[in-house]
Amino acid sequence: MSHSHKLAVAPMLDWTDRHCRYFHRLISDQVLLYTEMVTAPAILLGDRDKYIGFSNKEHPVAIQLGGSNSKELASCARIAEDYGYDEVNLNVGCPSDRVQKGRFGACLMKEPELVAECITAMQQVVNIPVTVKSRIGVDDQESYEAFDHFIQTVRQTGCDTFIIHARKAYLKGLSPKQNRHIPPLQYHFPYRLKKDHPELKVMINGGVNTVEEAQKHWQHCDGVMIGRAFWNAPWLIREMHDAAGFKNMNSGRDDVLKAYLDYCRLQINEGNSLHWLIRPILGLYHGMKGNKKFKSYLVTEAPRRKTDVSVLNEARTFVQP
Ligand SMILES: Cc1cc2nc3c(=O)[nH]c(=O)nc-3n(C[C@H](O)[C@H](O)[C@H](O)COP(=O)(O)O)c2cc1C
Repeated sequence: MSHSHKLAVAPMLDWTDRHCRYFHRLISDQVLLYTEMVTAPAILLGDRDKYIGFSNKEHPVAIQLGGSNSKELASCARIAEDYGYDEVNLNVGCPSDRVQKGRFGACLMKEPELVAECITAMQQVVNIPVTVKSRIGVDDQESYEAFDHFIQTVRQTGCDTFIIHARKAYLKGLSPKQNRHIPPLQYHFPYRLKKDHPELKVMINGGVNTVEEAQKHWQHCDGVMIGRAFWNAPWLIREMHDAAGFKNMNSGRDDVLKAYLDYCRLQINEGNSLHWLIRPILGLYHGMKGNKKFKSYLVTEAPRRKTDVSVLNEARTFVQP
């Protein structure tokens, strides 16, 4: 299945789990969804369904892999395709210490040949697209030339889709959290990449918060990927969906809440807890009067009444129409 890269929700560890993706899909039937990063050993040795199981309602959905062993990654790509994922993405952007020890994530920007080897190995065993999410550089890699060298080395594999978190990563001295604010964003890197290589699909990521900003990026690149802003205010996904020119959806926030409540009921029958299920919806009424109370009601009641989905409707009463 081919899918658009015009708009995507960023992969976010502990956030974009299957419940979150299901919820986002109710808000937009077009936005491209990404899993949290899953490491190759987790897929190969761990409880596979737990790590990569998903609902067929989530399509189009891409799996993001973390690793740098081409054999392992190829096995994972195969497994992901068999599970029904629509795209495999390699994480070349995460700066955490844990990830560096495993020699993957952002430190791979220093090893373009290794990334190319991994991408080739995956492409050889799957038919779905294999894509890359990277930074614009790491540590003392400052120049556009170094960034371009990385991209050109990888694209020689045939990989044509690059998601660029438009800031450098520092492998030492900053926590991953700090590394999402500092150093400054430099959108001119992905802009220039697209300008020089119009045949590539380039998605911009990092600090996109408003429809106006997205519209500006769409003039220069193929798409935008948004993380934190969508988590804080999920209805922004619908506003971006509309701005992207995707087919109009008639549902409103309350319809989405109702559909998600049905989903919660099913998930609870499977043994899941409301405590976890409510996390993605906390900001659903962001910007409306009462969202704070909606949120705090959910956060206090859900852990107490682990299986009682009426908590969602009760919380809704705090939001002004
Ligand atoms: C809680 C959290 C977890 C993240 N986990 C991942 C991840 O698993 N893989 C990845 O490539 N990026 C991860 N990121 C980075 C985001 O995908 C994105 O690149 C970054 O937040 C910048 O986009 P934004 O400004 O729209 O949030 C994470 C970000 C956050 C906030």
